[in-house]
Formats: sequence, C-alpha cells, structure tokens
Amino acid sequence: TKAPNGCPVSAEAGNFDPFDTPYQLDPAEALRWSRDQEPVFWSPKLEYWVVSRYEDVKAVFRDNLTFSPSIALEKLTSAPPEAAKILEGYGYAMRRTMVNEDEPDHMERRRLLMDAFLPENLEKHEGWVRELVRDYMDRFIDKGRADLVGEMFREIPLTVALRFLGVPSEDAKELRKFSVAHTINTWGRPSPQQQLQIAEDVGQFWKTAQEILDRMRADPTGEGWMYDSIRMHETHPDIVPESYLRSMMMAILVAAHETTAFATANAFRTLLSNREAWNDICENPTLIPSAIEECLRVAGSVVAWRRIATEDTEVGGVKIPKGGKLLIVQASANRDPRHWENPDEIDIYRHNAAEHLTFGYGAHQCMGKNIARMEMRIILDEFVRRLPHMQLVENQTFEYLPNTSFRGPTSLWVEWEPAQNPERLTR
Ligand code: HEM
Repeated sequence: TKAPNGCPVSAEAGNFDPFDTPYQLDPAEALRWSRDQEPVFWSPKLEYWVVSRYEDVKAVFRDNLTFSPSIALEKLTSAPPEAAKILEGYGYAMRRTMVNEDEPDHMERRRLLMDAFLPENLEKHEGWVRELVRDYMDRFIDKGRADLVGEMFREIPLTVALRFLGVPSEDAKELRKFSVAHTINTWGRPSPQQQLQIAEDVGQFWKTAQEILDRMRADPTGEGWMYDSIRMHETHPDIVPESYLRSMMMAILVAAHETTAFATANAFRTLLSNREAWNDICENPTLIPSAIEECLRVAGSVVAWRRIATEDTEVGGVKIPKGGKLLIVQASANRDPRHWENPDEIDIYRHNAAEHLTFGYGAHQCMGKNIARMEMRIILDEFVRRLPHMQLVENQTFEYLPNTSFRGPTSLWVEWEPAQNPERLTR
C-alpha cells in the first residue's frame, strides 16, 4: 500500500491501530517506534496522518490556519444510516463551538468569552471547591477503602463544571451517562450495534442540553459562563450565534468534566505508584503544582487531538496533501527524548514539565486549564493532609474507554488504615 502522498507504507505504520491494546494501555509507549523511526506516518487503518514527535505536534497546534481544527469533534467512526436516522429524529445538529472553529471567528469569540477563565476570576471559586472536596472525602474517610474514580473524581469535576457554567445540578446524573456516549461517539470505534444505543444517548444529551439552555435563557440574569455566553449572544449574535450556544452547551460538559476527572485519576495513579514522589508532596505540599504538571505530562487525559490540512503542506519533512487528516499524539510528544531529559522518568522537580502539550498549544489552547489545575491542586492538597498513608490496592486491573483521545481509568481503588488518619491521631 501507498500513502496519499505516494510514499510506501512501512509495516509498523500498516499495523498501527489506536484501538488495539498497546495504544489503549499506553499510547506513548505504543508510538515509541514512530518517534524513533518514522515520526510522521500514514495509518491506513485510521486513514489519518499520525504525528508523534514533540516539535512536530507543537508546530501543527501552532499553525491553526494550515492545520484547521474543524474536524476536532468529527465522528471518527461514521454512523450507519440507522444511527444517523436516530440522531436526525432528535434534530441533532452539533455545529462549531470553540475548539473546532476557524479564524477569524474563533479568536473573536474566544476574546469575548475569556473573562471567567482568567486566574484572577477563578480565585473566588477556591473556597467552595475545597469544601466540596472535603465533603466527598468525609463520606469515605473512615471506611479504609474507596474507588476514587467512582466515589469522587467523577463527581467533583462535574459539580464544579456545572456550577462554573451556571447549569442547575439536578440533571447531573443523566448528563454523566450522556457524556460517556459522546466520547465514544466522537473518538471511539463503536460497533454498528453500539452505534444505535450511542446515537440514542447522544440524541438525549442534545435534547437535555437544549432544555437546560432554554430554561437558562428564560431568565438570563444568572451567574456562570453559559449565562455570560447567553448575554454575549444577545449583544453580539454574529460572534456568538445561536448554533454556538446549543452546541457548546453539550460540548463544554465533556470538555470540562471527563478531561479533569481522568486527569485527576491518572495523577493519583502516577503519584501513588511512585511512592517517593507521593511522600515528597506529603512532606511538602508546595510541590503539588509542579507534581501536577509532571503528571499531566506523563499521564495526560487528552492524549491525541485532530487537525485537517487546508492546503498542500509538510510536517517534519513529510508531504501532506490538502485535506489530509492528522492525529497529533500529545502523549507521545510528552515523552519525546528530543525535548525531554529522561522522558520516561517521573520527576516532580522537572523544571520544564509545564511545557507538556496535554492542554494543546497556541490559539486554541485549553481555556479551562487553570480550572483543571485548581481542582487537581485542591484535591491533592486535601489527600496529602488527610490520607498520606493511602496506597493503591494491589493487583487491580485498569480499564479504559476505548477511544483515541480521552484517557483515564474507569476505577481506581485505594486503601488505608483509618486508625492512622492524621486527623484522628491529633484529636
Ligand atoms: C480546549 C484539554 C479541562 C474548556 C482544549 C484542548 C485540549 C484540552 C487538548 C484543545 C487545545 C488545542 O486545540 O490547542 C483539556 C484537559 C483538561 C481540560 C487535558 C483537564 C485536565 C477543561 C476545563 C474546561 C475546558 C475544566 C472548562 C471549564 C476548554 C475549552 C476549549 C478547550 C472552552 C476550547 C478553546 C479554544 O478552542 O479556543 N482542552 N481540557 N477544558 N478546553 Fe480543555
């Protein structure tokens, strides 16, 4: 076989399948061969160009004109006609939001809607986020054992996201189920049978998002980022159109919730399986922010993103024809020895860890990155004080939702001896 640029496809490139176990377990490891031998390759199974080195991934992120993000939320596995019909029945019409909008519209919209995300405007949320974290911990702290994903990490980022957005939280449970469907629908490889159920869930998600939005629009005086967007729609309908509001209402829940829940789970797993690092942050919690960056580097929750070439171009010396779709693998870039010293080592003192590409880079870089960091910092801070002797339960198996991009374990079991809890000892 040949790639669309006429070059032959190597055996490794021909075999590459992101839905196979190696990539699902450890995408960076699964692409080690590529970083070493063929950093930009055509994958016939995926029909994407795969980019694996740090400089190349960053260059693609940086140039959002040549490499448009318009396909970022496109269904990776197209729907069979029956599934498309189900979605049609729901009037599903997901359009551009922010992450997949081209210039100049994107930047105008981003500027209008940026305020709530600025660090100075996030500070006011810290107090209630900490209370929420302590409240969830109280529920299991005397039990000696917990699945942190199920009992906490899946809950907190959703609650925080809803409150930040101004969305009433009664609908949270439903929304969670839908957002899993949205992830598989967008970045997964569902079977034709699964596609039908997923289409049903995505349709419901779309409908629920619309209902919530309608309720919010009935009284647009509320506080929160979706209210900001609604008000901007009233004053700047050309920059913040109706279609944006509807699509964003759905997309932002996934963007804010799943990503942060997974990143937190990945960070705890990483730190608890590197006991020295865990002990260091217990002794000195001011190390937590740099430990978080290192965890986002080696175990980020968004491991690959997508772009499409708007003209004939080149990445890392490889010709990519106009219309070529690219899978840019941040997890691989984050472990590229051309950029990082001892990339496979976890070093919470690494001076440049924050150069990881887990939040993307350039014009579209994650707007919520400081919210995610704040949540992770507060959660870690409470654990190192209240459960420093906690350990991972041995021999547990970790499972992941099969998809190219969103990565985190579906459960994370830890255990501890409640009698040793520091708060009990000092009582
Ligand atoms: C965009 C990752 C949390 C809102 C992105 C992008 C990535 C990403 C990879 C695309 C970047 C690019 O194209 O250059 C993550 C990760 C998170 C996280 C790993 C958690 C650890 C959040 C949260 C929110 C959020 C908590 C909101 C409350 C957004 C928005 C965009 C975005 C609005 C679109 C920005 C634009 O296109 O201008 N995020 N995200 N994210 N994220 Fe996040």
